[in-house]
Parts: sequence; C-alpha cells; structure tokens
Amino acid sequence: MSRIPQGFIQDLLSRTDIVEVIGTRVELKRAGKEFKGLSPFTNEKSPSFFVSPAKQMFFCFSSGKNGTAINFLMENDRLSFVEAVEELAKRAGVQVPREGGHSEQLVLEGPLDALAAAERFYRTQLKTHQPAIEYLKKRGLGGDTAKLFGIGYAPESWDALARLFPDPEYALTAGLLIQRDSGGAYDRFRNRVMFPIRDTRGRVIAFGGRTLANDPAKYLNSPETPLFHKGRNLFGLYEAKQSSKADLPFLMVVEGYMDVVMLAHHGIRNAVATLGTATTRDHLSLLFKSTPRVVFCFDGDRAGRSAAWRALEQALPEVHEGRECRFMFLPDGHDPDTLVQEIGAEAFRGLVGQAMSLSDFLLGELKKEVNLGTRDGRARLVGLARPHLERMREGPLRSVIVSELEHLTRLGRADLDALLTGHERAAASGRPAPSGRTESPGARPIKRALQLLLERPDMAQGVAHVGQLAAMPQPGIDMLVEAIEFFHEHPDSHAGQLLELWRDTPKGAALNRIIGVEEQLDEAAIGQEFADTIGHLRMKALRGRAQVLLELARERELASAETAELEQITRQLSDARLV
Ligand code: UTP
Ligand code: MN
Repeated sequence: MSRIPQGFIQDLLSRTDIVEVIGTRVELKRAGKEFKGLSPFTNEKSPSFFVSPAKQMFFCFSSGKNGTAINFLMENDRLSFVEAVEELAKRAGVQVPREGGHSEQLVLEGPLDALAAAERFYRTQLKTHQPAIEYLKKRGLGGDTAKLFGIGYAPESWDALARLFPDPEYALTAGLLIQRDSGGAYDRFRNRVMFPIRDTRGRVIAFGGRTLANDPAKYLNSPETPLFHKGRNLFGLYEAKQSSKADLPFLMVVEGYMDVVMLAHHGIRNAVATLGTATTRDHLSLLFKSTPRVVFCFDGDRAGRSAAWRALEQALPEVHEGRECRFMFLPDGHDPDTLVQEIGAEAFRGLVGQAMSLSDFLLGELKKEVNLGTRDGRARLVGLARPHLERMREGPLRSVIVSELEHLTRLGRADLDALLTGHERAAASGRPAPSGRTESPGARPIKRALQLLLERPDMAQGVAHVGQLAAMPQPGIDMLVEAIEFFHEHPDSHAGQLLELWRDTPKGAALNRIIGVEEQLDEAAIGQEFADTIGHLRMKALRGRAQVLLELARERELASAETAELEQITRQLSDARLV
C-alpha cells in the first residue's frame, strides 16, 4: 500500500543497464549506438526493436511501445509497476524501501488505494451474499468469470463501505462515497453487483454497479473523477489484454458490462465496453494501442445504427497504417450477452467474421440518402462522402473508398478528384494530406531542443538563465525548462530517468511521443543545433518579455526594477544582433 520513494527509483535506474535486462529476454545485436532485435511484442520477421544504452530506453517500432527498463518488464513480463521495480531491485541486490511504513491498518496514499480497498471489500461481500450469487448464477455466470473480472457486491447499506474509511477524503475523491450536507459521507453503491473498471495497468479506477432491486438506474457508474473519464476508459480492456501475451488480433466493442463478462465466460476474451457513452476518439486511440483491428458490435435497430455511425465518425482519423474497423449488427431483440448464450461461441465468432467493412458501412449509409439513378444524385453522393474522406489519412482504405465511389458514380477519376478536392484546388496536384496533430506556432523549436537534450543530457550544464526561457508563454516550455533543470541537478542521468520521473503525467506522455531513436547527428552537431535552438528560443523569450514591459509602460510608470530589466533586455538583444 505504501509508495516507493522516487529517489530510490532514480537510483535504481542508474544502477540498472537496460541492455542487460532486455538481453536476457530478447536476442540483441549491436547496431551502431543501439542494440537491435526482434520485437517481443509482435511476431515481426525483421528486427525493428531497439535498445538505447545512452537513453536507457527501448523503442519498438512494430508495436509502438517504448520506455524504460521498468516499462519493459511491465510489458514483457506482465508485471505491475511495483513488481517491476522489485525485480530490478533484486537484480541490483538492493531492498525496496517503502514510504509510510506498513502497519496492519488501512494506509491510504490516495484515491487508488481507496478503490483497491473497495474492490476487496465488494468481492468479500459477494461471497456471503446469497441473493447476489443467485442472481449471477441465474444469468449464467460462473465463479471463474466473476473472479476474472473481480466482480463483487455492494451491500444494501448506507455506510457499509464508508465505515471502512475513518478519513473519507480519498474515497470521496474516488467517487465511492457521497458527501452528506450534514457532514460525513455515505455509500454511493448500494445493493448492486459491482464491476471494477481498470486502467490499462490493471488498477481499479472506477466501478459500474447493476441494481439487484428495481432501481430506475439499472446501472450506476462512478462519476468522473481525476482518475476516471468515461470517454477515455473502457471496461474489460485490461482483462482482454491479460488474456494473451501477444497483441490481440482484434478487439470487439460492445455496449454493456454483462456483454463483456458473458462473452468472456464463453471463451471470447477480447470484448470491451464503453461505459454508457458513445464511442469517442480517445476510445479509438486507446483500442488501437492494443490491436490493429476493432469490431463494433451494435444492436440492429435504429439506435444501434446511429451509435455505429457515431463510432465510424470517430474512427475515420484513426484508421491508418494497417488499422481496421468493422461493424457488426445484432439480430433484433438480442445483445451479445443473450446471443452468445443462445447460439454459442462458435456461431457468435462466425457472425463477427462477417462484420461489415468500414467502407461498406460508410457508403451503404450514404447511398440511402441519394438516388443513384440520377446524375445529380451521384454527384450528391460525392458531396456527402467528401467531408468523411477529408478526415481520413491517405492510405489503402481511403483509396478503396475512392475507387468504390468512382464505380458507384460512374465518374471519371479526374472529375471525381475535382469534386472531392473542391474546384479551388487543382485536381492534378493530388489531395493535400489531411493534417494530423496540429502544432501551435513556436512549439517546434521547443520540441526540437527537448529532443536534442534527450540525446545528450550533459548539454543542460551549458544553459544559463533558464528563468528567461521559463517566462515564455509557449506551451511545452515548462517541459523543456524542467528537463534542463533535472539534468542540471542530476548530471549523470539519462533520458529514461526523466521519463520515469514523469510516469503517468501528461508530460511523460508528451515526452514519450517526441523521444526518438537513432539520431543521425554526431555529438558535436547535436551540441551545435541545441545551442542554436536555445539561442533562438532565448531571443524569442526576451523579445516577448520586452513587449510585455513596453505595453505596461504605456499603461503606467514602470517600477525601477522593470526599467532596469527592459534596459538589460534591449542590450542583450542588440548584442545578439552584432554577433
Ligand atoms: P442495457 O440497458 O442494454 O443493459 O445497457 P444490459 O447491459 O443489457 O444490462 P442487463 O443485461 O439488463 O444487465 C447497456 C449499458 O449501458 C449503460 C451500462 O454501461 C450498460 O452496461 N447503462 C445502462 C447505464 O450506464 N445506466 C443505465 O441505467 C443503463
Ligand atoms: Mn443485457
């Protein structure tokens, strides 16, 4: 329950050689500055898995995974964060210290601990609550499956859970309890079968509860909390990933908790559910981190088709580089839960195999809107398809849709291209690649400086007056400044240690996105480019600050310190122009 001090983790990483750790699990060969081997995460035939001794990180281009030795053990050995740290500590022959001691009492470090304690509590309750066991049995669910998902029971009581927490703060933050106006807190979930919702590391971050009574809210979900966002989490994803060592060939998206659980009970372990919300783009990118194929499984009725259409719209920008989406519609009156019980797993898999392709679903729905018998209708079809095509990246799937449109509209390719790109753009020049993540102006040099610094953290020593940079309003500057400060204070640290420091923060995620491997430049060239980039940023920061001071001066008289600062900046700027 207690936390491992960050100082220990930093020290442990500096004693660990990632090449040795991975080398015992993956055959590595030297390739320039890096080591190279076959990805342990995919079945690739030619090596695209790199280990960088300088950064103390691995980069897997076939699975898109990268990280430190800790991440590697978590992914490859399927360890929790703490287990991975313990494994490295064992190798290094050191003991993992814990902050906060380890008394018998419930020691809570934060909302995650409250959620873990609640999961244990609900599970224990289920064992002794016969009506809940009967209910699950009646629905056809066995004990093994209940255990697999950690299904539990919240008793019919206002304070059964609340009594567990002498201090309710973290349980309130986690959404487990509700604050009373009169002070104190009471249980949110009462008389419900409880489904734990986990993050991708398996930690419980929320619950869904199904009423055993006739509560009008058949399902109750945890509210949005700092840990849990409905639009960014999926029920069953962790369990699905646990079911196979390699990447999953595909994931199925269904509507309900019971659907996921019942499919798993029938051996179909790769279903996940959105949590009572429409599919979001975040859901899609989360899914595509674990699999190249997603099959949406919706009701065949109108509501189901419109939910599928919304899913398709979210999927368009995400289906590139071999990714695929398919759509399956269930027979009337069925959900996956009832259908798999009726027809069995094999027949269900058969239906999944016949799911509609994205292009068929897209064009099929659009065709319903127009009369293809008329020239006008055919042109209108192109008009309807155009905004969707514009949201897709270039690639085979987009080409298939365009050829299909060509066929349906009987238009020549040049006419079609002109309609698709708009007359204002030259059809001959091809379509502009739809832009991906847009970078705000000024972000590029910041990102570049950070990338270079990660190649050679020793360069942090040469950066003077970090404070001047820190004052810039550009997004990302805080990351760069913090990185410089970190390497300044820890001169022997490597990129992996910074990544570890920022684990589970937005900065860590951003760092992971920009960090690369196999920088072609040599050390001196990196040093030069870094100095130039920092110089450029500093000029920009100074000019920005001067602007602010000049504007202030228009409104009021500057304080003497401000006047001095402005003079100094002006001097620095003109000096820089001379050299
Ligand atoms: P359904 O109403 O289709 O329920 O809701 P179900 O999964 O078939 O439930 P059972 O079989 O009667 O137990 C599908 C999903 O919509 C969300 C839940 O995530 C549920 O699993 N939902 C539904 C809610 O969030 N709240 C509700 O009141 C109902
Ligand atoms: Mn159902």
